[in-house]
Amino acid sequence: PVKAFLFDLDGVIVDTAIYHYQAWRRMANELGFDISEEFNEGLKGVSRMDSLELILAHGNVQLPEEKKQELATLKNQWYLELVSRMTPTDILPGVPAFFAQVREAGLKTALGSVSKNAGLILERIGMTGQFDAIIDGNKIAKGKPDPEVFLKGAEELGVQPAECVVFEDAVAGIESALRAGSFAVGLGSPDVLTKASMVFPSLENVTVSQILARL
Ligand code: G6P
Ligand code: MG
Repeated sequence: PVKAFLFDLDGVIVDTAIYHYQAWRRMANELGFDISEEFNEGLKGVSRMDSLELILAHGNVQLPEEKKQELATLKNQWYLELVSRMTPTDILPGVPAFFAQVREAGLKTALGSVSKNAGLILERIGMTGQFDAIIDGNKIAKGKPDPEVFLKGAEELGVQPAECVVFEDAVAGIESALRAGSFAVGLGSPDVLTKASMVFPSLENVTVSQILARL
């Protein structure tokens, strides 16, 4: 039986995915090239340094390690400028109602994000108390698609990965959930999230019983 729901943050609970994209795009532009929305799909769920490596390779730019650290720090400053003004009104439509159902159903909840800024964002939107466990980029060594983040989430909740349903907007996140041995529900486009068990445009109007019935 399903005992817990594990949630990604960026693009699932809040639309920070767009802020990550804007900050990375600004950096690419300063380096003399651009990144498309399509290329950005491959960055979702990927750690800060892994994202930087993918972007530099895409622009055919080679830089010393020291300069890479500098750029990653700069991107994070730009990102923080964008997210620092977030409030509970930035929570994506349908999320509060869905969490009310999850609690009603007696399911446990965990956050599974690769972002080192996840704790800060949860505070800004007032959702820290909604999670029984919070796994963020500071608690893990390997980003998605590695399963570490969701394996840790299940462990902290005291449930088996096979008893967990993961909610993800990223290709790398769906992969991570499946490698952990959990169910994966995609939020976004079925053409992009092809490996998910089911895909919804967002959590709006989605019901817990509808998901459990389809697994
Ligand atoms: C999430 C986002 C990625 C981001 C990663 C690291 O997984 O989907 O776009 O690169 O977190 O975020 P951070 O806030 O630590 O740079
Ligand atoms: Mg995401």
